[in-house]
Amino acid sequence: MLILSIDTSCDETSVAITEDLRVVANIVSSQIELHKKWGGVVPSIAKRAHRENLEPAIKEALFQAKVEPENLDAIAVTYGPGLAIALEVGISRAKEMAVSLNKPLIAVDHMEAHLLSAFAEDSQGKFGIEKPQFPALGLLVSGGHTELVLMKDYGKYELVGQTLDDAVGECFDKVAKLLGLGYPGGAIISKMATEGNPDKFRLPVPMINSKDLNFSYSGLKTACRSIIQDSSFDIKVDLSDFCASFEKTIIKSLLIKLSTAIEIYRPKMILLGGGVISSKKIQQAVKEEATKDKIPVHIPFSGSLLTDNAAMVGAVAYFKAKRKDFVKDIDALDRIPGLEIGENVY
Ligand code: KG4
Ligand code: ZN
Repeated sequence: MLILSIDTSCDETSVAITEDLRVVANIVSSQIELHKKWGGVVPSIAKRAHRENLEPAIKEALFQAKVEPENLDAIAVTYGPGLAIALEVGISRAKEMAVSLNKPLIAVDHMEAHLLSAFAEDSQGKFGIEKPQFPALGLLVSGGHTELVLMKDYGKYELVGQTLDDAVGECFDKVAKLLGLGYPGGAIISKMATEGNPDKFRLPVPMINSKDLNFSYSGLKTACRSIIQDSSFDIKVDLSDFCASFEKTIIKSLLIKLSTAIEIYRPKMILLGGGVISSKKIQQAVKEEATKDKIPVHIPFSGSLLTDNAAMVGAVAYFKAKRKDFVKDIDALDRIPGLEIGENVY
């Protein structure tokens, strides 16, 4: 099954070619430079950049994969969640391609794509998940979302926990901004953290006493602000210790909910996805937690499949294509910016 997938949900224009679960090409054209000076993603700038970058990304993906458009079996596109006017760019181009090439169109949920990113295999057909077992528990931690998802089977999901306010990535980025580390600062914080003392600063672990599986990060952000803006905080001396303490607090908050979810749902495997999972400390902490219950943890074979990309969209598209789950009325396909995993609208 040869599929061309498009994702324009946020600030990366991405196009991938996948053959079944094998990633043949995965082009990601990042807009970080354009949004940097605004300290966050500006939707109108994202839309314009997607329009400029999409066509070259499609050409490059086909070129790298040595595939002629006529030989594709299907076109896939992210229809939500994401920025409405950004999603729109990918959706309208995918519709055009499906119609002009007379190929089926597959509508993909961006969070399902993060969830299934570990299923993707490299160009040699290595990695991926050899023997998937269900139920699986997904921990998705990105710039826009922080979710615990129960995967009962392919296409069958239940959102069992989510953030009530900021996402973890958003919290990383806002704290990085307060520290003057630039945008997006998540990766910089986790790098600085490797040299710091994680016990130097005491930060409140969010939702430590709540019994449900939800997360919350706005309180932690506020606590970080008070410390950073306090006159006793010396950035030259304290930076790496603060980053390490912050990352440790985030890890604690994730592990508390993860372990509760493990107790409740007894998953047979854990799936990790989303940009924040790039932090090796977070990966290691989740693995240690899961080892206690002998649960295997699956992470995508490359960091480029953790941050936004279209190869993960291709993985979802493959399973949908196997079920012949194609868009029935191409004209009617519309973006759903607030799509929730499990809704399966198309
Ligand atoms: O998944 P992603 O590319 O975008 C969304 O779908 O939202 O995630 C981007 C987020 C940003 O907030 C970025 O700061 C964070 O992932 N991030 C990291 C690391 N690398 C990227 N956060 C912590 N540690 C990292 N190494
Ligand atoms: Zn994402």
